[in-house]
Parts: sequence; C-alpha cells; structure tokens
Amino acid sequence: MSVDLTDLDAAGLDLAISDGVATVTLSRPQRRNAMTPAMWQGLARIPGKLSADVRVVVVTGQGPSFCAGIDLRMFTAEGVPGEGRALSPADPGFDDEVAGYQAGFRWLRDPSFVSIAAVRGHAIGAGFQLALACDLRVLADDAQLCMKEPALGLVPDLTGTKPLVDIVGLPRAIELCLTARTIDATEAERLRLAERVVPAADLDRAVAELATALMTTDAAAARATKALLGNAPRRSLAEQAAAERAAQAKLLQARSPDRQVPST
Ligand code: CAA
Repeated sequence: MSVDLTDLDAAGLDLAISDGVATVTLSRPQRRNAMTPAMWQGLARIPGKLSADVRVVVVTGQGPSFCAGIDLRMFTAEGVPGEGRALSPADPGFDDEVAGYQAGFRWLRDPSFVSIAAVRGHAIGAGFQLALACDLRVLADDAQLCMKEPALGLVPDLTGTKPLVDIVGLPRAIELCLTARTIDATEAERLRLAERVVPAADLDRAVAELATALMTTDAAAARATKALLGNAPRRSLAEQAAAERAAQAKLLQARSPDRQVPST
C-alpha cells in the first residue's frame, strides 16, 4: 500500500504497514522521543492512512526510551524551533487545540484493530499516557513508567487518567499520579499495566508474536468482540447481554450465506 508519509516524517513519526500490522514509531531518539504538538497532530492523522485490512497497530519508540513526555522546551521562552511555546488557556481556541492533541491518542481505541504499546525504557508523562491509550502493553524489563505531570504543576490531559483508573483502580491511580513516582516493569505487571514483560532484547519478537496471535481469529468477529468488550464497563449485565445478542445477529447477517460458522 502506498501512503504519503512526508507529513508524519516532519512530525517525528514513522508509519510502516505490513501484513495487517501498522507500526507507528516515535522517531526523535536524540530527544528520547519527546513529543510536540506537531507529533500529537501527526498521530491524529494516522488513522486516515490505515487500510481497512489493518488489524493490529503497534506503537513504539526509536532508541532507548519509548517516550520522555512533552518536549520540555515548550515551557521555555524560546520554545521548540518551528513550533513555539506551549499554549496558554488565554490563547483563543485553547480547548479545541488540546482536544486536537487528544485525538492523537483516542483513535487507538478504534475497534477496527487492537493497539499494542511496545515500551522499552522510559514512558514519562505524555509517553505514559500514550502507552495507556493503547489496548495492550508489552514492556521490556527495563521499562520505567511515570505520570510526571503533577510534579510539573500540570494535570495529565492526554486521555491517560481514565485508562489508568480503569486498570489500577482509583486509590492506586491517586497514589501514582500525586507522588509522580516511577514504576518499574515488575510493578507495572503486578498492577496490570503490562500484559507481558520480556527481556529488552526480545521485545520486538514478543510484540510480533502477540500481533500474529491476535490475527488468528476471524477479523469481523474480532472487531465486533472488541467493541462489545470496550462498552461492557458502562453497561448493566442485562444491557450487555442484549448488546451481545445484537452483535451476534449483525455478524451472522453480514456473513455471506456460503460462509459457515467454524465448528468448535
Ligand atoms: N524534552 C526535551 N528534551 C528531552 C526530553 C524532554 N522531555 N527528555 C530528554 N530530552 C533530551 C535531553 O535534553 C538530552 O538532550 P542533549 O543530548 O541535547 O543534552 C537528550 O534528550 C537525552 O536525554 P538524557 O541525557 O537526559 O538521557 P537519559 O537517558 O540520561 O535520561 C530521561 C532520560 C530520564 C527521559 C531524562 O531525559 C528525563 O528525565 N527527561 C525529562 C522527562 C520529563 O520530565 N518529561 C515531561 C513529562 S510531563 C508531560 O509529558 C506533560 C504533558 O503531557 C503535557
């Protein structure tokens, strides 16, 4: 598939698509993949570049760190060359602008595919939130996660607070955010922030194996199931049971008459 990637390159991103797997790589290793508004806006453009056959999206970082969070030069008088300084709430359009940044994280929940964060080294602030934006996380054993924002006088505002609470529970989320302490891979796995922890040298292979395993199931059933599971927490049991019936009927109706349900 041929997609125009020049705009992503300028934003410090790389996208590669092969055999149903799209790999998004943060590519500013000289800055530990620190993020800028251009990078968030670039992330938001990626779903428009994915073909319909993509079933897995892997998000990873080039070099020793997954992502060191926001480019701290945004908070200096000089700002980041070509991008300027962090917006202030006094700037017109502040809310819309931040919603645009959040769009760079939100698309990773799309039921069309499963998103996997492949995390080696640091995932700090916006980087931790990017890992949380993915459905699944595979961590190298050298991973270090930190929600640094409150230590810098900020709230985490790149969609990370909800998945964090959903995964670790409210008391632990409060403790992690308000101490801004760093979690290592062992603790991350214990807190269910990692589906797998592997030796750093095995990270790419482990993620590739998981991607392959996720593609062994029927594509339409996998998409419908992810949508069902994603909506389950906000539904009652009766509502979820009804949603299961509706999803099954839709799936079976969409299937061509000559396509049989696999026997178990
Ligand atoms: N912004 C800009 N540059 C960064 C950066 C960042 N967040 N993180 C690292 N870099 C740069 C360093 O300045 C350094 O540049 P030079 O080579 O020109 O000196 C280069 O990347 C390598 O960094 P280190 O030498 O520090 O590498 P290290 O391996 O010793 O440490 C690190 C890595 C622990 C990530 C450390 O660099 C660090 O603590 N970085 C800052 C992390 C941070 O506080 N991020 C903000 C989180 S809050 C957030 O993200 C807010 C939000 O969403 C709005």
